[in-house]
Amino acid sequence: MRDALNGRVAIVTGAGKGLGRAIAERFGAEGATVVVSDIDEAAAKSVADGIAGASYLACDVRDEAQMQALVAHAVDRHGGLHVMVPNAGVGRPEPLLEMDLAAWRAVTSVNLDGVFLSIRYAAPAIIAAGGGTIVTLASVTATTGSPLIGHYAAAKAAVVNLTKTAATEFRPHGVRVNALLPGFIDTDLVTAAQPGFEAALGLPAGGFDGLIAQKQGGYGTPADVAEAALFFASERSRFCTGSGLVLDGGLDASLL
Ligand SMILES: NC(=O)c1ccc[n+]([C@@H]2O[C@H](COP(=O)([O-])OP(=O)(O)OC[C@H]3O[C@@H](n4cnc5c(N)ncnc54)[C@H](O)[C@@H]3O)[C@@H](O)[C@H]2O)c1
Repeated sequence: MRDALNGRVAIVTGAGKGLGRAIAERFGAEGATVVVSDIDEAAAKSVADGIAGASYLACDVRDEAQMQALVAHAVDRHGGLHVMVPNAGVGRPEPLLEMDLAAWRAVTSVNLDGVFLSIRYAAPAIIAAGGGTIVTLASVTATTGSPLIGHYAAAKAAVVNLTKTAATEFRPHGVRVNALLPGFIDTDLVTAAQPGFEAALGLPAGGFDGLIAQKQGGYGTPADVAEAALFFASERSRFCTGSGLVLDGGLDASLL
């Protein structure tokens, strides 16, 4: 089946590369009209150019006015909004003992404030369109602590909680809200973090790959996450709201 999102208009934030790009391309292949958004306008345009019927708009998810403009773009240009994927996120390995408030906020402002703004301004448009779905990008780090990701993991745990509250408040309006909790997926975010993790864990250069092979059977792919996003975005998940799906090759299933 290649039409799970026929007639649906979807915004994906942070879709210039990585998981957002894979989600935008998958949604487009399933019939959605996609608004590809990213803080990097050239990247957003490049992705949109490859998706039939897609448009693009630069948006820094931390900026309230830009988020309002992004939702207005979807409604004005494509006639409404049915699906929002607040995917934009950043992360960098930093020990708590070396983290100042600016470093904390650099991560939490995108990963939590950006999700709040995405939900806050997309939901009224989705309700006005007669209902739809919101798919948040949390992380398996929402469920456990880990060295170097205090800001990232705290924000992702908050995203899971916010997802549940939004699901509860929006249910009477026909808007379902669910979270994806991926483990380590092969994107630039993870590649850039590897040297920091290796140093902190006492691993040799390249040793992080071996750890991931042992803990989750290798890296997940953006396509793995896009498949799950499609499930939550479409009517295939019609009885799911306020739930979370862990995609981590078993990383979170075992103590050792
Ligand atoms: N890759 C993984 O292993 C993994 C695992 C769990 C969760 N996630 C989450 O998935 C999402 C996507 O991660 P990814 O691996 O594709 O990252 P990535 O670094 O490959 O891509 C992130 C995209 O977000 C954009 N972006 C950054 N700051 C932004 C801002 N303020 N406003 C708008 N766009 C912004 C970047 O320009 C980039 O295009 C993130 O929320 C991340 O935390 C990723």
